[in-house]
Amino acid sequence: MRDETIPTIHRGIAGMQHQSAVWRAAGLKSALVPTMGALHEGHLDLVRTASAAADRVVVSIFVNPTQFAPTEDFAAYPREEAADLAKLAALGVDAVFAPTIAEMYPDGYATRIVVDGPARGLESDSRPHFFGGVATVVAKLFISCAPDIAIFGEKDYQQLLVVRRMGADLGLPVDVVGFPTVRAADGLALSSRNAYLSPEERSVAPRLHAALQAAAAAIRAGKPPVPDALAAAERDLDDAGFAVDYVALRNADTLAEVSDPRAGPLRLLAAARLGRTRLIDNIAV
Ligand code: PAJ
Repeated sequence: MRDETIPTIHRGIAGMQHQSAVWRAAGLKSALVPTMGALHEGHLDLVRTASAAADRVVVSIFVNPTQFAPTEDFAAYPREEAADLAKLAALGVDAVFAPTIAEMYPDGYATRIVVDGPARGLESDSRPHFFGGVATVVAKLFISCAPDIAIFGEKDYQQLLVVRRMGADLGLPVDVVGFPTVRAADGLALSSRNAYLSPEERSVAPRLHAALQAAAAAIRAGKPPVPDALAAAERDLDDAGFAVDYVALRNADTLAEVSDPRAGPLRLLAAARLGRTRLIDNIAV
């Protein structure tokens, strides 16, 4: 990374690939931070980590249509490119890959990655189209930017595991690195979608993290039994006005269901809607 300068903006795949090849030929290691823009401190912490880990940093900004269902918020998703570029310039990012939709999905586009394993259940129960769209676009971002490492937030824990699995399965030469969730002081995980919350909803939203913490403490203590701890968390969230999609305990490495909570690393994951905003969160147990 350089000091504060305007990053080079690439709208096309070929230009981005050329830039990456020039860096590689010069022996420079590059890191990619994939985003959909509307950048907040969580994204910016990923960028800071990328700059500590590599010689050159690329941030991609692309609101990917194939990971939104027709009923979802693709059109309304916040787009703030000028503000995003200013934030990235202040961090000394070297390049921004902000392709057009036509560049990523050319006329006649007919190829999509099919995912299973960690993609099964949880988010896929409410959003069956989602991880296929994410895996496809992330593979294209990896091919376009050809980074040595790519950094993803644990905020989207299932996404992190799906991308890691996809990279390993396709033999993509990219080291997929996870980064801890960045939270507001009251515990709410930072998210571009938090902008949709009304002031009243914003004051209730931290209860999601609080419910996960209470359930994780109960699971660690071994009482009440896991199903009761999960049911109590769901009840707390219902009472606070959330519509719960899931509160689930899974194996932290594979997201397989857990039969014995004393075995292996555990992750507690939840998704719930507050008004028109869908929030997700997860913590280690
Ligand atoms: P987006 O929601 O913009 O998130 C971009 C990256 O920032 C993801 O890796 C996400 O996990 C991370 N992130 C978001 N909020 C965070 C927080 N509070 N703390 C730490 N990391 C956080 O996730 C996507 O975009 C897209 O699905 C994408 C991977 C770019 C593919 O389109």
